[in-house]
Amino acid sequence: MEAIILAGGFGTRLRPFTFTRAKSLLPILNEPMIAHLIKTLPKKVDTVVLAVNYRREQIEEYFCSHDFGRTIIVNEEPEPLGTGGAVKFAEKHIVGNFFVLNADIICSLNLGEMLRFHERKKAVATISLWPVENVSEFGVVDIRNDGAITKFVEKPKAEDAPSDLINAGAYLLEPQVLNYIESGKLVSMEKEIFPQIIQNTGRFFGYKFQGHWIDVGRISSYLSVHRLLLEKQKKTFIQGEQCNVYGKLQLSCVGNKVTVGKNSSIDSSVLFDEVVVGENVTMDHCVIGQNVTIGDGVMLRNVAVGDNESIRQGTSLENAVVWNQPIPEGYPSKQIGNVIGE
Ligand code: GTP
Repeated sequence: MEAIILAGGFGTRLRPFTFTRAKSLLPILNEPMIAHLIKTLPKKVDTVVLAVNYRREQIEEYFCSHDFGRTIIVNEEPEPLGTGGAVKFAEKHIVGNFFVLNADIICSLNLGEMLRFHERKKAVATISLWPVENVSEFGVVDIRNDGAITKFVEKPKAEDAPSDLINAGAYLLEPQVLNYIESGKLVSMEKEIFPQIIQNTGRFFGYKFQGHWIDVGRISSYLSVHRLLLEKQKKTFIQGEQCNVYGKLQLSCVGNKVTVGKNSSIDSSVLFDEVVVGENVTMDHCVIGQNVTIGDGVMLRNVAVGDNESIRQGTSLENAVVWNQPIPEGYPSKQIGNVIGE
């Protein structure tokens, strides 16, 4: 069985970190986001097709040096084709029913149980569903008691919402779904294909699950996912190899070869590899990119510092993004599309 992982987006909302790396390779507890996802695949999935475009070579390099015990196919789109177009472009690798998964979702969904649900329902398509409180910010589903979805309702008022369930970004599809997608075109699975499957087959189902679900699309959710996973593991911090930490780490994660000077306090933050933090530094809700240097006495709150930047001693910054290098050629100036949520 195959799983297509959608990992071709630019991840514009996670800039400046996605200026220099593929979003799916951003570390979560010191391991690329995509590795967390692959580890949740049922045994039956022996082939993983990575639908990639932006920073393809980084993704390929990572999988060349890491073995997940499955065949990994890197399928590069000539240009970003959207979620539907990317799935169609992977058609040559599909044999039977297959998963389609967003690379940027961290959740407790049991894909094996979802597969059993799909087979029991003889579904043409099954999507995972997650309950939210703020329905008016999302597309919610209208769902029957037997789990069949009859339509999607975009951003309804709370009183008009047919349910509180949103598309949670994991799909299980029969090969016939591929016939609905035009080749070589920018196609949205969610907006263009799913409504047709509902209308033409009546066998479009929703699978609800419980536990946790985080769409790691923004810096704030990137920090939340760390907090959640640290709490689940009952740890107050995680640090990588060859670190010299003389300060205090609280609900934070630091990568390999990181130095934190005396009297420094790092709270609810993530530091990538090779970061050097001076003495008497205070940091709260920050993400610090690889090879960043932070001088003595710096105070940062809600700050994202891109790879290879440095912050001069004594600086105070709040609610800021630090990036003083050129933006990579071809990187979009704004978000291109969004599958989940908006
Ligand atoms: P933003 O620019 O911040 O919206 O991020 P994004 O580009 O990752 O878009 P979004 O979060 O909507 O994408 C959800 C998932 O689909 C991510 O795992 C993306 O990598 C993936 N994705 C989005 N567009 C494409 C595409 O055109 N091709 C492929 N292969 N994957 C895509």
